[in-house]
Amino acid sequence: MAIPKHVGIIMDGNGRWAELRGLPRSEGHKRGVERVSEITAAACGVGVKVLSLYAFSIENWSRPAPEISVLMKLLETFLVNDVNLFMEKSIKFRVIGNRDKLPSKIRTMIGHVENMTLDNSGLLLQCALSYGGRDEIVRAVKKTLSSGIAPDEITEDAVNSHMDTSGVPDPDLIIRTSGEQRLSNFLLWQSAYAEFLFTNTLWPDFTREEFLEALYQFQIRDRRFGKVGSGVTKCS
Ligand code: IPE
Ligand code: IPE
Ligand code: MG
Repeated sequence: MAIPKHVGIIMDGNGRWAELRGLPRSEGHKRGVERVSEITAAACGVGVKVLSLYAFSIENWSRPAPEISVLMKLLETFLVNDVNLFMEKSIKFRVIGNRDKLPSKIRTMIGHVENMTLDNSGLLLQCALSYGGRDEIVRAVKKTLSSGIAPDEITEDAVNSHMDTSGVPDPDLIIRTSGEQRLSNFLLWQSAYAEFLFTNTLWPDFTREEFLEALYQFQIRDRRFGKVGSGVTKCS
């Protein structure tokens, strides 16, 4: 059975995981980062081609400054520590999202990891940082128009080629942890025909086994893309 080529994950529930244990939210975020390496390795292992992880939304900038600061520090540590995993497993890393809003130190670190992993031919790990689907669409439309194209020549392909995710197939499966059943501005354009899987598990508790179970659930879905399914009776 087919493994989804592109899986997106909305990694939600770090704060609740910590609160349930009487711990500060930062502890949940720390545990959450550990899960990223485990799930990335699992995705490589089963042959997923693209993994898009929602790590920090454009709306998350309105969280309290101390929480943002913890998240940025964890991101720095992740960028330093996980390069080894990327090189070992030939993972190509790239960030999608509005980089202008990120601290310059982190922008530089991201550029460094992207360059180091540029020629890696394994899994593409897309980390959505300072990311908003609407923001991405607006930036892509601006880029499309400034490429000199006439408004009546704008096509879906033209806009698509200016998205942060250009060159990558649309997500087949989007998983969201923590019980919330919404996209929260993740991959709005790209998720037109994605399958969704919602689990109550909080992100710091999301294991490799549950990830593999999600892939299995995907495999038994019937994707029709607006057509009629196979094996249906004739219309007339
Ligand atoms: C997801 O966990 C991580 C980020 C959004 C950065 P949350 O911090 O949203 O955790 P909950 O939803 O409050 O439990
Ligand atoms: C979505 O989670 C963003 C990430 C997981 C990075 P949020 O916790 O920010 O989403 P809402 O506020 O519950 O919709
Ligand atoms: Mg949340």
